[in-house]
Amino acid sequence: MKDLISIHDLTSLQVEEILSLARDLKQKQRNKEKHEYLWAKSLAMIFEKPSTRTRVSFEIGMWQLGGLAINLDQENIGLGARESIGDVAKTLSRYADGILIRTFEHKKVIDLAKSASVPVINGLSDLLHPCQALTDVFTIREEKGLEGAKKDGKGLKVAYIGDGNNVCHSLMFACAKVGINLTIAVPVGYEPDEEIVKMAFSDAKTAGIQIDILNDPIMAAKNADVIYTDVWTSMGQEAESKKRKADFEKFQINKELVKLAKPDFIFMHCLPAHRGEEVTDEVVDSTNSVVFDQAENRLHVQKAILTMLLR
Ligand code: CP
Ligand code: NVA
Repeated sequence: MKDLISIHDLTSLQVEEILSLARDLKQKQRNKEKHEYLWAKSLAMIFEKPSTRTRVSFEIGMWQLGGLAINLDQENIGLGARESIGDVAKTLSRYADGILIRTFEHKKVIDLAKSASVPVINGLSDLLHPCQALTDVFTIREEKGLEGAKKDGKGLKVAYIGDGNNVCHSLMFACAKVGINLTIAVPVGYEPDEEIVKMAFSDAKTAGIQIDILNDPIMAAKNADVIYTDVWTSMGQEAESKKRKADFEKFQINKELVKLAKPDFIFMHCLPAHRGEEVTDEVVDSTNSVVFDQAENRLHVQKAILTMLLR
């Protein structure tokens, strides 16, 4: 495992290793135990899109592991404009022990990894958001008490209701790798990418779990243990915002819809949320909502990814 570009590329065992290390790191941090597994190591982070959780969890995570992270924004690094992707990858590989990239075209992540001699981490592309989805399955297990021998998530109904986007794609892979059933509800025309679906279905078959893709939010919400949503307009799609608001109207997670879920359902969102669009304040601020636990877990899971790749 050199890079983390897509969860599809990982074995179930590798995913389990990341999750178990994350649990251990979370415990160590709670107990204020030293865990400087990356002493004097460094991470170069390229951000072509804004970020709060990804940037902060990786930067503080590197520091807590005894290393250093530096932030390179598009204005300064000019990836593919000021300098070719290959030359940036080769240069950064001489200074840093790992590279994180958040960008638009997924191909840029792949190209960077091809030329870099150090691990490359996909911090979100238009296609995938693997670091988020690993955190999401970690959070689901934690919240639903699926630890140790009770790890089997086949009895759970996780419902992702919203856009068939990068977050949805990676969630499909993550659920398949850890054996959690997933029901997806998207408006017609906003289905997940066909190629990704094919790969995720094949992972799901191997794991013996079910991924269903529907166009009905009500069917998806019924008896759900987890209701997950993401923004209707992702970064880079701002010009489509008005049309998307109309197309997704029936997919809002509100008080009425969550009444269909199990009483102890949890509400999840990768954040940032567009309150009043994909989710109402009532739901995101309710006691069922675990969005800030989910956000905190980014730190523990990112530290596990860094330790696996950079140690
Ligand atoms: N969920 C997530 O990746 O948040 P940021 O865009 O703030 O990094
Ligand atoms: N789908 C969203 C996720 C943000 C973390 C986006 O790409 O903007």
